[in-house]
Amino acid sequence: MAEQHGVLTAGLVDEPIEVTHPVKIQDLTFRDGHQSLFATRGRTEDFIPIAEDMDKVGFYSMEVWGGATFDTMHRFLGEDPWERIRTLKKYIKNTPFSMLLRGQNLVGYRNYPDDVAEAFVERACENGMDIFRVFDALNDFRNFETAVKVIKKCGKHFQGAICYSLTEPRMGGEVYNLDYYVQKAKQLEDMGADTICIKDMAGLIAPYDAYILIKTLKENVKVPIHLHSHFTSGMADMSLLKAIEAGVDIVDTCLSPWAYRTSHPAVEPLVVALQGTNRDTGLDLKLLAKCSEYMEKISPKYRHLLDDRMSIIDINVLLHQTPGGMLSNLVNQLREMDALDKLDEVFRQLPIVRRELGQVPLVTPTSQIVGIQTVNNVLFDTPEERYKMITAQVKDLCYGLYGKTPVPIDPEVQKKALKGYPRGETPITVRPADVLEPELEKAKKDVEGLAKDLDDVLIYALYPTTGKRFLRWKYGHEPIPDEVKPRTLEQVKAEEELVKKAKAGLLVEKPQKEAPPKGPGLATFNVFVDGEYFEVEVEQVGGVPVVTQITSVAAPAAAPQPAAPQPVGPQPMVPPPPPRPAPAAAPAAQPAAAPAPPKPAAPAVSGGTPIEAPMPGMVIRYEVKEGDTVNEGDVVLILEAMKMENSITSPVSGTVLKINYKDGDSVQKGDVLALIG
Ligand code: CO
Repeated sequence: MAEQHGVLTAGLVDEPIEVTHPVKIQDLTFRDGHQSLFATRGRTEDFIPIAEDMDKVGFYSMEVWGGATFDTMHRFLGEDPWERIRTLKKYIKNTPFSMLLRGQNLVGYRNYPDDVAEAFVERACENGMDIFRVFDALNDFRNFETAVKVIKKCGKHFQGAICYSLTEPRMGGEVYNLDYYVQKAKQLEDMGADTICIKDMAGLIAPYDAYILIKTLKENVKVPIHLHSHFTSGMADMSLLKAIEAGVDIVDTCLSPWAYRTSHPAVEPLVVALQGTNRDTGLDLKLLAKCSEYMEKISPKYRHLLDDRMSIIDINVLLHQTPGGMLSNLVNQLREMDALDKLDEVFRQLPIVRRELGQVPLVTPTSQIVGIQTVNNVLFDTPEERYKMITAQVKDLCYGLYGKTPVPIDPEVQKKALKGYPRGETPITVRPADVLEPELEKAKKDVEGLAKDLDDVLIYALYPTTGKRFLRWKYGHEPIPDEVKPRTLEQVKAEEELVKKAKAGLLVEKPQKEAPPKGPGLATFNVFVDGEYFEVEVEQVGGVPVVTQITSVAAPAAAPQPAAPQPVGPQPMVPPPPPRPAPAAAPAAQPAAAPAPPKPAAPAVSGGTPIEAPMPGMVIRYEVKEGDTVNEGDVVLILEAMKMENSITSPVSGTVLKINYKDGDSVQKGDVLALIG
């Protein structure tokens, strides 16, 4: 058997392979765990009670920061992201901290200039970060240069990450083959990487590919190899084990309550699986179990954020190599455009568009960029013209603002995208940040008097709108809204009880009395269950809420809020609907049922050609004003849909007779945006 299936039998016990050192484990519970399962909403207060025990487990490192935490903490949790590092460091004194850094995107969604990047990394080091896992969506390591210089200067650990991508179900093919990853790993080693990570963000890596990849990397580079794989497609457990057999040095796991689904393999089964083998982790199972028991206990606080599909895996990765998050975005967009029937066509065209755009890895933000452009092509292209509606982000990609794509972008698509591009029609070949103006000094001036130190300034520099709002909360210039404040376990349990009863139909609507007097301990709440709003009256009996009345009501225009007055006891609150991942600095999401903005009356000016919104979205800005002359094909306005900006052009030459909206207005598909006559 060994001759026929050498890989299959490279086992741990019968046929020990040469590797004998223990597998090191990095725990991701405090960062990627809740980022993957609960929209990054984990709060520091829920980590503190097990922080000291986690420190004793013997992890190689703990990932506690970076990725989306910086964004969600200041935006949705009212927590200072810098403070989290300092606080956890008080409890976790021995285990190194690691963070995920998106190269020149830092912990945001665009390339920041070098002065901001330098200051950010320096402050992260100063606040207590030890290991920096740095990645770039295009695997263009020029986007690492600035960060790496500072990491090295501060004497910290640089982990170079390679985004794992595929063009077919298994590793190989024209771009993402074994040689690609070996070359990338060598580049990272040359850059001074202390360790190298294969970052499988979409759960694409198949077990035997993991085996071959790790084995080959171990033969070709000297630095330790780390594997990060999400469970999304159901393969990660198997892949980790095969990688361990192949000699991987470090793997990523989570405590079991925050493992699996789109998160990571759980640590406990892995510890037992390796016990007594040549790669025994040596971790204390009992201590892990104690930490997991605590996480299980507090998890009801986050349950409402969990995807409630029956299947805990998403096999779309196996079918289409489409990361889970990308697929749900595509489906959402098609639904909004009333074109869900086009999903198969989108899947058919996706590989074509991806190839034309340089065969980029599909990871935030490139997955979104390729996905939305594909949807645009499927919906708006004509037999005579492809790429009729090109998003601003695709134009930036074609210009080189994200970096170098793995293969060249299709020259025709590139030329079309860059026609009239504001920075110029010739793409750049330099490192993207080389064309960016410094921003730090301006940021300092902008928040003078509000920001107390550089950490504050950086919150603003990375996230101007929400960052400034956070600083105002932090220093008491405006109250922290209720929905941002933490909820206790008791509050959450009371609310769950309520929702359970409402769902089970156990709440009988009381016959309408005329305005029942509201005594002390009687309160009314709006509860949002499965897309419907209920008005619930709750009576406090011995501190336990008893629902006395529940009425289905029309959705209020505003986001669901607990109605005043505040009850004396446990206060059921309504969880805000989970916001979409990777939120751009956009206005608060409106509930679907919010009244649409007043539609402009039928064209008051006769004889004009209407420009209709091809999709629902938000007006970013008009490029013309009433009275201007436009030529056919000129950009009239920029419309944002699914966080991608679309240029809406004039179908005719003429004069702008009427502009119907202003910047920031939401529009529905078919709304008349302007009239050209
Ligand atoms: Co991850």
